[in-house]
Amino acid sequence: MCGIVGIVGKPAREIILSGLKNLEYRGYDSAGIYLNDLAGHEYLTKAVGRIANLEEKLTPDEQGLVGIGHTRWATHGKPTVDNAHPQFDETNRFYLVHNGVIENYRELKDKYLAGVKFKSDTDTEVIVQLISKVARDEKLDAFTAFKKVLKEVRGSYAFLLIDNTEPDHIFIAKNKSPMMLGLGDGFNIIASDALSVLDQTKKFVDLQDGDVADVTKDSYKIETIDGEAVERTPHVLDIDPNAASKGTYEFYMLKEIDEQPGVMRKLSQDYLDVNGEPVLDQKIVDAVSEADRLYIYAAGTSYNAGLVGKEFFEKLTGIPTEVGLASEVGYHFPMLSKKPFFIFLTQSGETADSRVVLKEANKRGIPSLTLTNVQGSTLSREADYTILLEAGPEIAVASTKAYTAQLAVQVILAKAVGEKLGVKAAKDFPLKKQLALAAEGMQQIVDGKAKFDELASDYLIKSRNAFYIGRGIDYAVSLEGALKLKEVSYIQTEGFAAAELKHGTISLIEKGTPVIALINDPVTAELTRGNIREVESRGAHVISIVSHDLAQAGDTVVLPKIDYLMSAFLTVVPAQLLAYFASKNKGLDVDKPRNLAKSVTVE
Ligand code: F6R
Repeated sequence: MCGIVGIVGKPAREIILSGLKNLEYRGYDSAGIYLNDLAGHEYLTKAVGRIANLEEKLTPDEQGLVGIGHTRWATHGKPTVDNAHPQFDETNRFYLVHNGVIENYRELKDKYLAGVKFKSDTDTEVIVQLISKVARDEKLDAFTAFKKVLKEVRGSYAFLLIDNTEPDHIFIAKNKSPMMLGLGDGFNIIASDALSVLDQTKKFVDLQDGDVADVTKDSYKIETIDGEAVERTPHVLDIDPNAASKGTYEFYMLKEIDEQPGVMRKLSQDYLDVNGEPVLDQKIVDAVSEADRLYIYAAGTSYNAGLVGKEFFEKLTGIPTEVGLASEVGYHFPMLSKKPFFIFLTQSGETADSRVVLKEANKRGIPSLTLTNVQGSTLSREADYTILLEAGPEIAVASTKAYTAQLAVQVILAKAVGEKLGVKAAKDFPLKKQLALAAEGMQQIVDGKAKFDELASDYLIKSRNAFYIGRGIDYAVSLEGALKLKEVSYIQTEGFAAAELKHGTISLIEKGTPVIALINDPVTAELTRGNIREVESRGAHVISIVSHDLAQAGDTVVLPKIDYLMSAFLTVVPAQLLAYFASKNKGLDVDKPRNLAKSVTVE
């Protein structure tokens, strides 16, 4: 994780601070900035906590025409000023910011840096000290010393390096962590994602793993670590910078929840024709159709979306589908079928755990597809095929609209594949109408959000723990509802298969324990109602969220009408709203829950 911004050729301070604020979703436990005015003055300032703390520490004279900044999500060493980046060497010549994890930093430290006094506990300081030593001992310029050191480094990194003996250059290296080079008129800017600096330029070069670069205000040179020149074609990013702004909302999370009906309509428009037939790249549909088993891999919320996707694929294509946590599979592959096809669900397209699985799949020649919200992201580039989620930038750390977009893209793909395979259920499934119902239903739910504000205040915010229960698709949504609530409100929440509670966990139910029960499956509805009675008789306070057709007097929330197969689209929205209001009403920073980062680029 961590976010990085560097710029050369323009007054750097405010641009870096603004970029870092946009990148706070990547980590926000400490931050730092190095500025050089190219007239012999340099400034290094670091602070624990948010960018705002760093901003407060900066004095008016700390300015520069070149600079690098960093917002950190700690991996090695606690969030302290010493551990914040930029890290620097013992001669105060080199300044380095880093996103990633250096696996062999101890080895490098022991082998080459005996006697060097370290100020921090970070792996990054080892690298900057080593660059300094190599440059000094071997009388090399910064770029050459940097490349030499990189040959010995194992791990993930996006590095920006400044050498104060040639301060009008920023040196870059990238491996496994994202890094974009933005091209301007008389300046160049580098950032972990393009969106964070879109107010400066829309023209970007996507740096690839193994690239190093030497950037000045009006030039850039990309090479391999071995010094061979590399050509990368710049492209213009066609994104509206306002898409990433909060508008009148207090928090991005609510804005993104509210945007879901629009995302559904957009996906329907872009991926279905007027007759409701999917219009996806035929190569993707053919490749998936040839599989004898689908394997969906993902993490967190995306994994939860995959659990619902399994229902879509099995019902509409007849192809058996497995869903796995990427982190559990990367190093312990399951026994695969004869013709496997891997589907990766990842909002960011950068999740390291998922990438490990994809790399192994590529090694084994297994065809793969990434469903992602970020065009050009690593998992999108490295898979055989990509379908974009088209949800627009998702800034809140807790994922909402990317989850429902993942549901939508999966069901569209499942219908396309099922139809190609001649599966009756797919042919008969009125997807366009169902997606329209999803959009309308979501709109009704978000329009009635005040109810969830009250429920969160009355029943959740004073609780230490809570449960979501459901069966079938409702169980999959229970996992997502629980993840949402716990990550933003810090109320310990578990999602349970409704019938499983009585096999042990029911002992945790006390007077007033909130149990949010989801009921959409006509087949098991009565059984789940039985489970509700079991917890109620032990004192639980039940919030029931029930489909239109199964509702009874006394249910807390009655969902708008939709097919059971599509129920997750609607059930999840009250869960998102409950999480949002629980967090907000507890006075927490909804968009940036503690200890989290949005793009998890460490394993
Ligand atoms: C939770 C959340 C995370 C992500 C997970 C995977 O709200 O956002 O659980 O879903 O870190 O991230 P992506 O989808 O980017 O691979």
